Amino acid sequence: MILVGKIVINGGRRLSGEIKVQGSKNAVLPIIAACILCKDECVIYNCPDISDVRSACEIINHLGGMADLNDGILTVNTKNVERSEIPKELMNKMRSSVMFMGVLLGMTGGAALCTPGGCEIGARPVDIHIKALKMLGADVVEEGECISCYSKGLNGCKIHLEFPSVGATENAMMAAVTAKGTTVISNPALEPEIVELQNFINAMGGKISGAGTKTLVIEGTENLHGTEFEVRGDRIVAATYLFGVAGTGGNIRLNSVKAEDMEAVLSVLRETGCEIYANENSISVWSDGKLKSPKRVRTQVFPGFPTDAQAPLTSCLSVAHGTAVIHEEIFENRFRHVEELLKMGADIRLDNRVAVVCGVPCLYGANVVARELRGAGALCIAGLMAKGKTVMEGTEYLDRGYVNIEQALGMLGADIKREG
Ligand code: EPZ
Repeated sequence: MILVGKIVINGGRRLSGEIKVQGSKNAVLPIIAACILCKDECVIYNCPDISDVRSACEIINHLGGMADLNDGILTVNTKNVERSEIPKELMNKMRSSVMFMGVLLGMTGGAALCTPGGCEIGARPVDIHIKALKMLGADVVEEGECISCYSKGLNGCKIHLEFPSVGATENAMMAAVTAKGTTVISNPALEPEIVELQNFINAMGGKISGAGTKTLVIEGTENLHGTEFEVRGDRIVAATYLFGVAGTGGNIRLNSVKAEDMEAVLSVLRETGCEIYANENSISVWSDGKLKSPKRVRTQVFPGFPTDAQAPLTSCLSVAHGTAVIHEEIFENRFRHVEELLKMGADIRLDNRVAVVCGVPCLYGANVVARELRGAGALCIAGLMAKGKTVMEGTEYLDRGYVNIEQALGMLGADIKREG
């Protein structure tokens, strides 16, 4: 990716204020794919205007549908979706386009796409997705990066996922809606985004139950209809901002986000000495900026500590008192922000999937480069915490998942602006 955009931050300021958290990227992306389950129009509210959503809309338009995002309202019309292949250039824009595979297979009898292999955070295989679709009756041919699936009709069955993969769960759910009979998925992902997808498909007339539990039941259903749906707040964007204010010190309130979606994050924040207040749809945090290191944090599948919040956590703990050992258990290459934090004065030692973070009194502004989405968020909050000026290259990564981060953080008192 060519990096031209820059964020400039003059750090060392406490954060305070109140903002609304954007809609969830990882909830809305599978929902966009699920719109193909009905030959109708769906309207999705609280949709974040981020490049991954724009990429998903490009795919819908390529397939013959219409997707239009305007001021947070996404209108998707899939009446004319007939194509079933996604070209490489669109797949390369967003790896998680693989989540169109199950719904295209079920609705058109085939799906042809390529998985552009590894990415900035890991190999990203799709073997679990493919096994689930084969169990539903698909023929799948893999040639290099290209995958072609065919079926003359899918049949409900029992599927056990060897790992509770979020994407594989979503692909299997959407394909199972189009199958004849009932599908039971054991060991599905439990993430809130799975619940969101269930609720969206049920709003279209689907019959899914058990999302968020160890057993998902999907009844094959025909003639789903369009619906309107509001996407919940983004728990990872919220976690990024909370770790930012923990590191700078201050007091912020985040609206439109559910504490129940992020208990593991809140628990670690409490361990560092932050005070947390949460109600139905907002979270407030107070920090004196003098943090205590939690001894150990392991990223895990939900409801464990989310891997997507690991990079912002690493930034935050780099100035905490004591030593924290962070285990990245989900992806094999997700510490790329560390080399940039070292340029800012952090004291972090890496050993494969483990980072040993020895807190330092403070970070110092530096020129840093983002290498992936959540690492970019982590470098932004490190810049907020640092003494002096930080220039971060790579807003292209940031914009994949954070809506106007400089505006959001600016509203909380940060001195942050975008250049280029
Ligand atoms: C989703 O990715 C999220 N993306 C990721 O968020 C998130 O990090 C991840 O879930 C884990 O929570 C979206 O929802 C769009 P997985 P996904 O399949 O579905 C291995 C962000 O920053 N695996 O649960 O790709 C895989 O290699 C992004 O917003 C297989 O081995 O994640 C990984 O090690 C990054 N075979 C682990 O499982 C498979 O067939 C978790 O992957 C599938 C996955």
